[in-house]
Amino acid sequence: MAYSWFKALHIIGVVVWFAGLFYLVRLFIYHVEAQTQPEPARGILTAQYGLMEKRLYNIITTPGMILTVAMAVGLLVLQRDWLHDWWLHLKLTLVVLLLGYHFYCGRLLHQLAEGKCTWTSGQLRAFNEAPTVLLFVIVLLAVFKNNFPLGVTTWAVVALVVAMGIAIQLYARKRRLDKEVVSQ
Ligand code: HEM
Repeated sequence: MAYSWFKALHIIGVVVWFAGLFYLVRLFIYHVEAQTQPEPARGILTAQYGLMEKRLYNIITTPGMILTVAMAVGLLVLQRDWLHDWWLHLKLTLVVLLLGYHFYCGRLLHQLAEGKCTWTSGQLRAFNEAPTVLLFVIVLLAVFKNNFPLGVTTWAVVALVVAMGIAIQLYARKRRLDKEVVSQ
């Protein structure tokens, strides 16, 4: 029973953590784009985005991360055998990268608040894709464990996700270009 509770809360933590990470970097993109607006829009928008980013990071994203990791520790205490398995070692390595991403977002948040962020909105869009890759591989490892699937289904899903990513990027680019034409 305790194991099921840990797992349920672990999954809830993952959903909250990723919702926060995805939305946070999207806010960074809007924040950076708002910095190119004329005053007073620039001042109003950047203050608002700064506040939203801080609240999202502190109230949603970081607690989601803590819940995920705390429940994972509970799962491993009850299932110590997995500590010898390669799938868990790989999963933990990817989680360390994800934690690095999380804390780097915290750094970007401070840089944006101080007006010292040098990232462009295009770079942030690419940065926003990293957790998708980590999410995909980590979930496959959690579900399939030592039988990680490398067959045609996996590659079909990867191709679909990549195609969707490219389509979204192209659409966003088209919208940006259309906006530039209108404002000229
Ligand atoms: C601190 C790092 C983590 C550790 C030690 C850990 C460990 C575990 C363990 C032991 C399970 C139970 C597996 C089972 O009962 O079959 C599990 C389940 C799961 N984990 Fe993690 N996890 C971590 C982070 C993550 C992250 C970051 C994600 C998402 C990106 C994630 C996604 C999942 C999912 C979806 C399940 C449910 C799998 C299933 O029931 O088939 N975990 N995790």
